[in-house]
Amino acid sequence: MSADCQTQVIRVDARQPDEQQLLTAGLALRRGELVAFPTETVYGLGADAMNPAAVARIFQVKGRPPDNPLIVHSADISGLEPLVKSLTPLARQLLLHFAPGPLTLVLPRSAHVPAIVTAGLDTVAVRIPDHPVARSLLRLAGVAAAAPSANRSGRPSPTQAWHVLEDFDGQIPFVIDGGPCRYGLESTVVDITGDIPVILRPGSITAEAILQATGVEPAAAGAFCSDVAQEHPAGKPRSPGMKYRHYAPRARVIIADEPLDADGGCKMAEQVRKCLSRGDRVGVFACAKTFSRLGLACRPASDWLDEIIRAGNLAQLPPATCCSLLYGPDPDPIEAGRVLFDALRTFDAIACDVIIAEALPESGVGAAYMNRLRKAAQTGSADTDPVEE
Ligand code: TXA
Ligand code: MG
Repeated sequence: MSADCQTQVIRVDARQPDEQQLLTAGLALRRGELVAFPTETVYGLGADAMNPAAVARIFQVKGRPPDNPLIVHSADISGLEPLVKSLTPLARQLLLHFAPGPLTLVLPRSAHVPAIVTAGLDTVAVRIPDHPVARSLLRLAGVAAAAPSANRSGRPSPTQAWHVLEDFDGQIPFVIDGGPCRYGLESTVVDITGDIPVILRPGSITAEAILQATGVEPAAAGAFCSDVAQEHPAGKPRSPGMKYRHYAPRARVIIADEPLDADGGCKMAEQVRKCLSRGDRVGVFACAKTFSRLGLACRPASDWLDEIIRAGNLAQLPPATCCSLLYGPDPDPIEAGRVLFDALRTFDAIACDVIIAEALPESGVGAAYMNRLRKAAQTGSADTDPVEE
């Protein structure tokens, strides 16, 4: 895509952003321009939710299908109230427990919300982000922001400013750089238009946490990868976004379901060696404990990335070699989720052919981690499959 504007990167202290620095971006958002900003989940690409032309620009620069609705972000509950028909008791209960935080609620929409935001649905998705930069920006702008993840459709969600620039440098006027995102996985999306909450997209707020907070067990299982044709128990359509291909790096993703077998053998190492013997450049994503048992000689992917950043161009991994990105000492879906998208983009940036990633148990945040990993591993051509987000 050719550059059509100069992208200004505003670097801020994520914990205590200087309002003076954010004001320019806040005013731009208010004027109808696009601003990419950090949230605690992933970076969002924001536009004034009440300005249909600004929202249309989001769909245009992302290459996002028009039938995939956006989440509207507000700094506080009073900013959400005008967007929805009413904040039901269940909505208030969930907000009390989890707002601000990585939770998105789907509710019947008010007449104020432009149809382009909700892709014509009679519901709207709303969220109060828990990130000082996002909240300051929204307050300074004085508008609610429609903001999908700030990636081109189908690409992994951005969790650092360079990920946003990879996709949108020269396409949007502002990127606010607040450093890496705390959760690294997008918010849990919960439809609360019926009697029971339905989890449309798993995230860091787990089904268990929702049950504990509300006393109601959310419906969810099996729905995460379903398409829009399926209906939830209240007869409402599922999240349109879930039918699309997402999070896809250019490299092929292989999930190492059982990195270590019962006899102490190592299936993950076998998979890596098989790819290396074909001449593939291989990226390994695992925890340090698992990785140490693979017995592989790999350079950290970050060494190559440093070279790219220094050289300002692509530093390719040599063929038939592997590199590693280790997320922490032990298997842990919270730590793995925090850097999964960064790993996918980093391996792509150094031209890996294959990414081999460790599977984790699907309990708690493991459900969200595995959901994203499976989507990244979905086979199919990025050119022909429908893409999302
Ligand atoms: O963490 C997040 O949620 C990030 C940050 C920026 O807030 N945003 C994000 O937005 O992930 P996006 O557009 O990439 O994903 C929004 C998801 C999509 O799957 C979309 O289909 C679903 O939410 N969604 C939005 N509005 C909906 C609605 N009215 N009903 C059902 N699903 C909806
Ligand atoms: Mg997205």
